[in-house]
Amino acid sequence: MKLKESIESVRNSFRTDSDPFPTDKQSVESLRVKYLGRKGLVAGLFSSMKDASPKDRPMVGKLLNELKQEINSVFNSYKKITASQQSQYGESDYTLPGLKFPVGHIHPLQQTLEDIKSIFMNIGFSVAYGPEIDDDFHNFSALNFPPDHPARDMQDTFFIDPETVLRTHTSNVQIHLMEEQDPPLRYIVPGRVYRNEAISFKSYCLFHQVEGIYVDKHVSFADQKGILEYFVKRFFGPDTKMRFRPSFFPFTEPSAEVDIWSKKRGQWLEILGCGMVDPEVFNSVNYDPDVWHGFAFGMGIERICMLKYGIDDIRLFYQGDMRFLEQF
Ligand code: DAH
Repeated sequence: MKLKESIESVRNSFRTDSDPFPTDKQSVESLRVKYLGRKGLVAGLFSSMKDASPKDRPMVGKLLNELKQEINSVFNSYKKITASQQSQYGESDYTLPGLKFPVGHIHPLQQTLEDIKSIFMNIGFSVAYGPEIDDDFHNFSALNFPPDHPARDMQDTFFIDPETVLRTHTSNVQIHLMEEQDPPLRYIVPGRVYRNEAISFKSYCLFHQVEGIYVDKHVSFADQKGILEYFVKRFFGPDTKMRFRPSFFPFTEPSAEVDIWSKKRGQWLEILGCGMVDPEVFNSVNYDPDVWHGFAFGMGIERICMLKYGIDDIRLFYQGDMRFLEQF
């Protein structure tokens, strides 16, 4: 029977033509047109079915359908292979689902710093930076630390040599700023600080602070109170209860610490230190303390980030653990 032979010969020629299967799109397409196109070989066979005797037609139809299926399935399986190769080798098939790239997260300390910066910049503070390695004068003496003050002790300070330290606070930049500029000035100073402390859930050998300094002719403790209250309410929320508690720092007089009330823990938690710039500090940078007044403050970024988000171990900030970081 002629038609049956023609079917076999198309099958054989397809097997030859498709092995190896062409690799470029154009050859795949011409192979497809040759066999499966509207005027292709398979369509030709279908149209010659009318020449078959009515008795043979069902059998011929079955053979033809099988051939068509065979050819289709070869094309389909190569389509799958090339699709996966394309995604590997970067050629684009726009019908494929897109590749997902992991998106990074802004580190919680950076987010906290950005929040602090934007609050203070809204009320006229500029941002300044200073050295992490500094001399004893800027880190201690000019800030009115007496020579035998315990903060200079080897236990707390990393000394590079007897005169040079890794700064223990960002307050050193107060001195640099006032040496470099005439008053008035209004800055916040973010940065890393270092302390030679035993590492635990609540202390680390380095951490971050934001310092603030505001010097002008008629700056009072009331100004400081207003500005810090504005900060606390914007950072922790408008209903935050806060208090100023008398304290001591060598470089401020009077000095205070600010606490916020934690409903969850039922206790006051310290968030920053502050005070009116001590006249001795003005003397060491040649500002006339009879003309200029100011206030300063300093807060630990880790500490207030931990309070805001309920983080209970400072070491989490430095371990790069994705399970922690992905939550921010
Ligand atoms: N330097 C202090 C510390 O490291 C924090 C501080 C307290 C900074 C009072 C200030 C201030 O500017 O006025 O603990």
